Amino acid sequence: MNIYKCPVCNNPLNIIDKTYKCKLNHSYDIAKKRYVNLMLANQGHSLQEGDNKMMIQARSDFLNSKKYDVLLNSIISNVSSLPLTKIIFCDVACGDGYYTTKIQEEISKNKEIKTIGIDISKDAIQQASTRRNILKINNLDYVIGNMDYLPFMNDSFNVLLNSFAPINEKEFQRVLKSNGYYFRVLPGKYHLLELKEFLYDEVRLNTPKVEELEGFELLKEEIVKDTIELNNKEINDLFTMTPYYYKTSYEAKERLKNLSYLKTKIEFVIRIYKCSKK
Ligand SMILES: C[S@@+](CC[C@H](N)C(=O)[O-])C[C@H]1O[C@@H](n2cnc3c(N)ncnc32)[C@H](O)[C@@H]1O
Ligand SMILES: [Zn+2]
Repeated sequence: MNIYKCPVCNNPLNIIDKTYKCKLNHSYDIAKKRYVNLMLANQGHSLQEGDNKMMIQARSDFLNSKKYDVLLNSIISNVSSLPLTKIIFCDVACGDGYYTTKIQEEISKNKEIKTIGIDISKDAIQQASTRRNILKINNLDYVIGNMDYLPFMNDSFNVLLNSFAPINEKEFQRVLKSNGYYFRVLPGKYHLLELKEFLYDEVRLNTPKVEELEGFELLKEEIVKDTIELNNKEINDLFTMTPYYYKTSYEAKERLKNLSYLKTKIEFVIRIYKCSKK
């Protein structure tokens, strides 16, 4: 079954040599690092799409420290226990591919799993592809694309993850099979509380909204928490990968650059929905 669809004419894409081609001969080359760009020029939002190189590098370095692995482990355990014999998994807005790679690596030890990671940022997909290539992970593809125009055929996946990113539930519903699962990860109430207290005079707690997503039924909500201790580099990597980087005064950023130790709460909300289709 073809998963990829041509972003121009919506026909299925087939791999011929190192190129994805549709029957109308629109073609998309697989890059040297083994990813494909399926985003048309008019499907972007701005000159810099998604996270930039600095944010991706910071995210990659930070996640490599394993400090967010409580989240990773919970996703892996929830995906593993789904009643599915073969998993066709899509990580939408996969960023630097830390979770994508680990999920593919761990779950493939016990189950058949094919994974596609997609992100609008070319820097993110390049980093993710490099990570996969170094670790020699099989059955994991990467694609540059916008979640508002997912370059996938209808009913392609039975599990879709969207973590710390915008959503487009109509597109998610379209590409998920009926009864497929949608994992949505959001920051919990006390996530990074102490980091925010260090940066701002007044701190607001997160309020993860309870969302009614049309076409999805909420099966489960899990709150995952930890307290982490960070050194200077980890503090600044974490800060650079969050939206706070763009909302913080110069003075507070400078103070943070000199902070050698921080202990902070982390908290994630994982919502698992089932996709229902008429
Ligand atoms: C905060 S990062 C989260 C990355 C990853 N899911 C994680 O949890 O580490 C958000 C990601 O969403 C991507 N993004 C933003 N808008 C997008 C869109 N419309 N389509 C696809 N990806 C998008 C960004 O490029 C960025 O990599
Ligand atoms: Zn085409």
